[in-house]
Amino acid sequence: MIQRFAFAGRAVQSLCAAAALGLTAGLTAGLTAGLAPASAQQEPRLDVIYVPTPQEVVDRMLELADVKAGDFMIDFGCGDGRMVVTAAKRGARGYGVDINPVRIKEANENAKKAGVTDRVEFKIADLFKEDLSKADVMAMYLLTDINLRLRPKILDTMKPGSRVVSHAFAMGDWKADHHEVVSNKDVYLWYVPAKVEGKWEVTGSDTMTLELGQTFQMVSGKIGGAKSGSVSGRLKGKEITLTVVRDGKSTELKGTVEGNEIKGSGWQARKT
Ligand SMILES: C[S@@+](CC[C@H](N)C(=O)[O-])C[C@H]1O[C@@H](n2cnc3c(N)ncnc32)[C@H](O)[C@@H]1O
Repeated sequence: MIQRFAFAGRAVQSLCAAAALGLTAGLTAGLTAGLAPASAQQEPRLDVIYVPTPQEVVDRMLELADVKAGDFMIDFGCGDGRMVVTAAKRGARGYGVDINPVRIKEANENAKKAGVTDRVEFKIADLFKEDLSKADVMAMYLLTDINLRLRPKILDTMKPGSRVVSHAFAMGDWKADHHEVVSNKDVYLWYVPAKVEGKWEVTGSDTMTLELGQTFQMVSGKIGGAKSGSVSGRLKGKEITLTVVRDGKSTELKGTVEGNEIKGSGWQARKT
């Protein structure tokens, strides 16, 4: 039988990238199962072809993202729903969208088989139109350019401290907080960093003004009024660690960012 497939240009990159990652067998299966014959007029336009994440990789991704009861996890481009169903088996609530109705049918069937229909929801939808703001964890297996298109929305709308875990594809110059290889597949984890750019008045064990700059989770800046000195550090979600070097003396400050305040042990800071 000859089948013609319709998919957006980016799916071709997926084909190449995934094939380079040794996913050829999965891709062949995915291509056959995931894309409708051209004769079906209302076939979805895919930005990424369907290749399921191996279950052992799903398990490790959710372990790394510490998915647990009380969490709300999303997978946009959810395929047969395996990430969302696995999250629900760990006690979390999950929401998956896929533009392909065939995938959503499979996802609902899988949720039923796993006995987790009360904790999951699947919807036929375009991933670019969905809200990320309520998620504690976002799982994805998309493409680097799609990750990059989603990146501003992730950084601006997801809660600081929420986790993003991706199979195979990274996020450009937003370096992962953790990377590992599981069954020959790359897995990346990021913590959405709190926003700390600006001027902070530090009080407590020390008193100073810090002018912080921020690039993703990396922080650097100046100490107001100091003849010499610098501040550098990083964020892991809302947790901040700063190394302040002033007049040759180095001090480490650890704290938690809550909006315009940072609370540490023996010190605090307020954004001015
Ligand atoms: C590589 S698969 C990943 C499936 C699943 N997340 C997993 O890891 O097993 C990508 C999925 O994205 C879906 N997809 C492609 N373009 C989409 C879009 N614009 N909106 C929503 N889903 C899309 C495809 O139908 C496919 O199921």
